[in-house]
Amino acid sequence: MDLQDKIIRLKKEKNAVILAHYYQRPEIQEVADHIGDSLGLSQRAADTHSDIIVFAGVHFMAETAKILNPEKKVLLPDLTAGCSLADSCPPGAFRDFIHSHPDHIVLTYINCSAEIKAMSDYVCTSSNAEKIIKSLPPDRPILFAPDKNLGKYLIQQTGRELLLWDGSCVVHEAFSMDKLFDLYRKHPDAQIMAHPESESHILKIAHYIGSTAGMIAHAKKFPKDKFIVATEAGILHEMQKEVPGAQLIPAPSHEDNTCGCSECAFMKANTLEKLYHCLYHETPHIDLPKTLMQKASIPIERMLELSR
Ligand code: 13P
Ligand code: SF4
Repeated sequence: MDLQDKIIRLKKEKNAVILAHYYQRPEIQEVADHIGDSLGLSQRAADTHSDIIVFAGVHFMAETAKILNPEKKVLLPDLTAGCSLADSCPPGAFRDFIHSHPDHIVLTYINCSAEIKAMSDYVCTSSNAEKIIKSLPPDRPILFAPDKNLGKYLIQQTGRELLLWDGSCVVHEAFSMDKLFDLYRKHPDAQIMAHPESESHILKIAHYIGSTAGMIAHAKKFPKDKFIVATEAGILHEMQKEVPGAQLIPAPSHEDNTCGCSECAFMKANTLEKLYHCLYHETPHIDLPKTLMQKASIPIERMLELSR
C-alpha cells in the first residue's frame, strides 16, 4: 500500500479531516478532503464534525482552525511551516502600535499569529477584505496589518484611508518585473492574474487581482485562455484540474531557482511523509492557552459572520 492509500485509510479510521491550501505539494492536495484559500479553509474548519483536523498549510492557518475548535486536536505536519508575513508582526511591537492609535479599528489579515488576532477587532482574508472594510463605520479610522501590499491595494479599492503596518510576503515580493515583461512579450494573448500580496507595480499590469480561490474562479470563466499566474506556483495543480483546456504559466521570480517561479518554502515544508507520520502519531499538534483562543476567536467569528 502506498503512502497516499495509508493516509486515506488512517483518516477514515481516526475520523480525521485533511484541509490543504492551494500552495501545498500536489501529492498532499490529492489526499485532502478540502483544498482552498484561507477563507474557505477557515470555513471548513469551523463546520467540521471530524475529531481531528490535519492542516496541510502553515502555522497561522492551523492556529485559526484550533481557535475555532478548541476541543479538537489540530495537527500540522511540520511545526516550522511559518509565514514571513506573520513573522513581520511581532506581538510586542504591534501592541505599542495599536496603543499609540487608540481611536483606530484594528483590522488584521489572517496571516498573523494568534496573539495578533487577539488584539484585533476584525480579521480578514484576501477574499473578503474589501467587504469587511466596507462594513466598518465610515467615521472611524482603520489600522491594517501586517501586509502593506494588500493594504495599499485595499486603500485603492475601497477609498478608505488605512494606517499600514510594514509587513510583506517574501513569495509575492519575489516576482521580477523585467522577466514578467519578457514573458508577456512572448505571450501577448495571456491574461496576467496576481494575488494582492504582490507589489503595486505587478498589480498595476494585472488583468485580474484576487485571492487564490478568486483566481481559480476567474480562470474558469475563460477555460480555453492563457494565463500568467503571479502567486505561489502550487496553485497551478488545482487550477489546471479545474481548467484543463487553459494554458497556465507561472509568473517568473527574480531568484534563480529550479522552477523559475515563486515557491513558499514554508508551505513546502510539509511533505506526504510528514503528513502520514503526524496523522499516525497525532503529533505535532497546535496548543494554545485557553484565554488567548477566546480573545482571538472574537475577530475571526466576526469575519466568518460577515462572509456568509
Ligand atoms: P489566500 O489563499 O487566502 O489567497 O492567501 C494566500 C496566501 O498567501 C496564504 O498564505
Ligand atoms: Fe506567508 Fe507568503 Fe508563504 Fe503565504 S506565501 S504562507 S503569505 S510567506
